[in-house]
Amino acid sequence: PEGRIKVLALVDSTNQYLLDNIETLRSGDACVAEHQTAGRGRRGREWVSPFGQNLYLSMFWRLEKGTAAAVGLSLVIGIVITQVLRNLGGIDIRVKWPNDLYYRDKKLAGVLVELLGKKFKPAQVIIGMGININNPSSNKGIEQNWSHLKEAGITIDRNKLTALLLSELRSQLIEFEKTGLSTFISKWHELDNYLNRPVKLIVGDQQIQGIARGIDQHGGLLLETEGGIKTYQVGDISLRGR
Ligand code: ATP
Ligand code: BTN
Repeated sequence: PEGRIKVLALVDSTNQYLLDNIETLRSGDACVAEHQTAGRGRRGREWVSPFGQNLYLSMFWRLEKGTAAAVGLSLVIGIVITQVLRNLGGIDIRVKWPNDLYYRDKKLAGVLVELLGKKFKPAQVIIGMGININNPSSNKGIEQNWSHLKEAGITIDRNKLTALLLSELRSQLIEFEKTGLSTFISKWHELDNYLNRPVKLIVGDQQIQGIARGIDQHGGLLLETEGGIKTYQVGDISLRGR
């Protein structure tokens, strides 16, 4: 499958750009920018997006089966990107629930999936990813430890990386639409940065400590505490190592 790519020097957010042009889009169409003035993460958080050194990429996809078929989508995107990067030599790159890529416990990339539509009616998805490529001093303003591809052992032309990611995402999304999350779960566990490690969940101003035990069939996080294993759904929860 192929698609069109809009290349922009400057934009508020590549996700927002696709949203603003959604009526004109076909599955697989994408947008990249050199610089974002309002790059966003989950729940309105900022994605630090300096000029020129990183990748800011968004792709449009139409889910024929509706929003109900999107369960676990952001995890699948994380898996696909991680596999592409590992094939380029980034063997220590892992996924962090629900939407990040980590290199040695530092945040290397983030995925933001924005979903429009209703259950069981065709839905539209904007899949955004921000990948740090080089070590820009201008990445300041990030409140957590972060990494970049060069540190993770990868040097690749940004255009080539973009092409690889888009082609892999398109083919894996077709697979995901057929099978759902089920065929990706064992892959997630192979790549999970925190599997069987002590973590804390931050829920509002509360913290829950436990051992991460991977994900369930709906992509919920499994956390083991003294009370047993509980599932946590994506929402207002942040996972951290401890
Ligand atoms: P969660 O575990 O809830 O996803 P998160 O803190 O990683 O938590 P996100 O909304 O996923 O939150 O991502 C936004 C966060 O990512 C920012 O608050 C910041 O800490 C971090 N961040 C922002 N820009 C970058 C960047 N270029 N590289 C790495 N990390 C970044
Ligand atoms: C996160 O970690 O919460 C996700 C960050 C996603 C950042 C990317 S950069 C390209 C696209 N455009 C945005 O505004 N956000 C995503």
